[in-house]
Amino acid sequence: MEPVAGSTGVLIPPVGYLERLRAICDAHGILLIFDEVITGFGRLGAPFAADYFGVVPDLMTVAKGITNGNVPMGAVFVRHGIHDAVVNTSTSGIEFFHGYTYSGHPLACAAGLATLEVYREEGLFARAADLAAYWQDAVHSLRDKPYVIDIRNIGLVAGIELESRPGAVGARAMDCHIDCFRTGLLIRTTADTIALSPPLIIERAQIDQVVDLLGRALQRVA
Ligand SMILES: Cc1ncc(COP(=O)(O)O)c(C=O)c1O
Repeated sequence: MEPVAGSTGVLIPPVGYLERLRAICDAHGILLIFDEVITGFGRLGAPFAADYFGVVPDLMTVAKGITNGNVPMGAVFVRHGIHDAVVNTSTSGIEFFHGYTYSGHPLACAAGLATLEVYREEGLFARAADLAAYWQDAVHSLRDKPYVIDIRNIGLVAGIELESRPGAVGARAMDCHIDCFRTGLLIRTTADTIALSPPLIIERAQIDQVVDLLGRALQRVA
């Protein structure tokens, strides 16, 4: 599961939800896997959603932020016990043998290491946490725009949900996407939810610009 569902429209878990899932998994011997492809590497103002919520999964999938999204790379983090089960039971010397062409690709690894260094040097996870309140106020200033029915935010991510046109789910948000694109703002939409996920280096003035351009587009959308 995604600890904060991104692709389905920025759905923030209810208080205690992840803790309860962890407890259920523990009670029944089920592995809990967090998909942190979006939430990982500072998006919530903590290194991972697992840190933000204080719930530790057994496996964690990551991508995007691991290389700043500039070079394709994905990774799976696992608990020691799972690691040992895979690595120590190998008889061939090659654990979990797969035939991928690009496994551990040196370019991706170099990009990953460089990215981690920048995150540390520039304190970007803490920066995201510091900006979260400003971000929250900025996105919630859109609450009275036409057709806005919900605004959700956590860390440096936000979802702005629009009322759907009857019989045309997603059309209104897509019109908004095209309008924003023309004025210089790239947004992502899922059905009629606009998902915003700015870079961790965004400045306050740029947040204002995002909200201004989006607000104008929302004012125009029919
Ligand atoms: C939450 C989430 N999980 C998984 C993926 C797929 O990641 P990858 O293409 O690195 O396998 C994406 C891609 O957008 C995603 O947003």
